[in-house]
Amino acid sequence: MTIKIIPVNENNVIEWRKSVRRVFGDIPSKPDVERMLAGRFAKNTSWEKRLIAALDDETNKIVGTGGADEFKITAPGGKNLNMAGIAYMGTAPTHKRRGIFTSMMNKLHEQAKERGDVLAGLWASQSLLYSRFGYGLGTLREDWSIETHSTKLIQENETNIQLEFVEKEIAKKELFKIYDEFRKKQNGSTDRTEEYWNYILYENENSKHNKSGMSGLFFVVAYKNKRPSGYAFYNFNKESGIAHEDDKGELIVHELIAVDKETNISLWNFIFGIELVEKVTINRRSPHDSLYFLLENPRQLERMTIDGLWVRILDPIKFLEARKYNHEGRINLEITGQNQSDIEGIYEIDTNGETSIVKKVNSSPDISMRPSDLSSCFFGAITPFELVNSRNINAKNFDKLNLFSNMFNVLQKPWCNTDF
Ligand SMILES: CC(C)(COP(=O)(O)OP(=O)(O)OC[C@H]1O[C@@H](n2cnc3c(N)ncnc32)[C@H](O)[C@@H]1OP(=O)(O)O)[C@@H](O)C(=O)NCCC(=O)NCCS
Repeated sequence: MTIKIIPVNENNVIEWRKSVRRVFGDIPSKPDVERMLAGRFAKNTSWEKRLIAALDDETNKIVGTGGADEFKITAPGGKNLNMAGIAYMGTAPTHKRRGIFTSMMNKLHEQAKERGDVLAGLWASQSLLYSRFGYGLGTLREDWSIETHSTKLIQENETNIQLEFVEKEIAKKELFKIYDEFRKKQNGSTDRTEEYWNYILYENENSKHNKSGMSGLFFVVAYKNKRPSGYAFYNFNKESGIAHEDDKGELIVHELIAVDKETNISLWNFIFGIELVEKVTINRRSPHDSLYFLLENPRQLERMTIDGLWVRILDPIKFLEARKYNHEGRINLEITGQNQSDIEGIYEIDTNGETSIVKKVNSSPDISMRPSDLSSCFFGAITPFELVNSRNINAKNFDKLNLFSNMFNVLQKPWCNTDF
């Protein structure tokens, strides 16, 4: 049996998508596949150059799948970096543990480097899979649940902010603009094209008008001094046909985004004021979100923290030059371990905080770490001191560790809420 890695095209894309979804327990229809291709890839992006399959040449069947969406991610300081959004990874259960996944990951990294992507990012279905390829925790994620009647916010709304329900077609345009403004200022967040918005807001006629169980989506837009400044969209999960006092109903907030703190407070006050539901859930929040500090009784907020966006550096020089540093300085940083020979080495970072020159050098290192740990320090999800305590990074002496820590410190912690 020989396995070949092949591109995906019009002829095999349905088989490819069925193979992707099979490992996740789902059977897609042809319209599902068309919707996915139209939504996950912008009009000017060719998905044929981004999706791959592993073909068993004995049976001529697809036995492995993978691909890379096109994203920009915001680095600390606000610069956009091109990121390969690795997704669709799966090996048919009949062909497991023969290195198919590994070959596809290597191929996707190779293609991403040829395109000039500076890093690769992904959301992992299993957290043990990706550090072997040099991925580290770029962001952390929290999933929340709260019984809203058990507490309230300590801050009142500002009078210059109005909230309005809008229909989905109008919401799409407003959400697109508000999210874009937000993500350009948010370290660690990724862009969303209009096509991508259509994809994530898709509802079929059944889900939109479901009378019991999950309701369709509701959209609320916040206007600060008449200018769009935030939004929330949510649906109800109700036991009986309609939200009712006796129903143990749940409000599922899919997303709440604000471009300023006053809008954030207004939107949360609005959510806490929704009646006839017992609890509110919202996923993929930042562990550093302000809501905890806005609650009269903060312990009511149940929080589960897990890994968020995993990041793999593809071009260390461009990567390290892209961010702003919190402190001027010069340091020799060694990337080592995890068998990632394409990026290993010693890099001198010379920065005045705003701009930096990074070059590969032969000098001795001041600080050494695995590629995965550098990804975490870069966005600031984890601090260098935490990594020293877990013995994952080594510094020549305390002064060098302190310098590295000051340089890489971020005033705004990373948050990525686009799960792909
Ligand atoms: C995870 C998955 C893609 C691995 O595919 P595969 O082709 O069997 O992987 P490989 O043969 O290339 O294995 C690579 C390494 O990962 C290890 N590995 C792979 N899956 C593992 C798992 N679930 N648990 C523990 N180790 C695993 C292998 O042992 C191997 O280690 P080694 O190099 O030290 O021998 C496949 O099992 C799968 O499709 N799982 C369900 C879908 C999924 O979780 N996809 C990931 C989406 S983010």
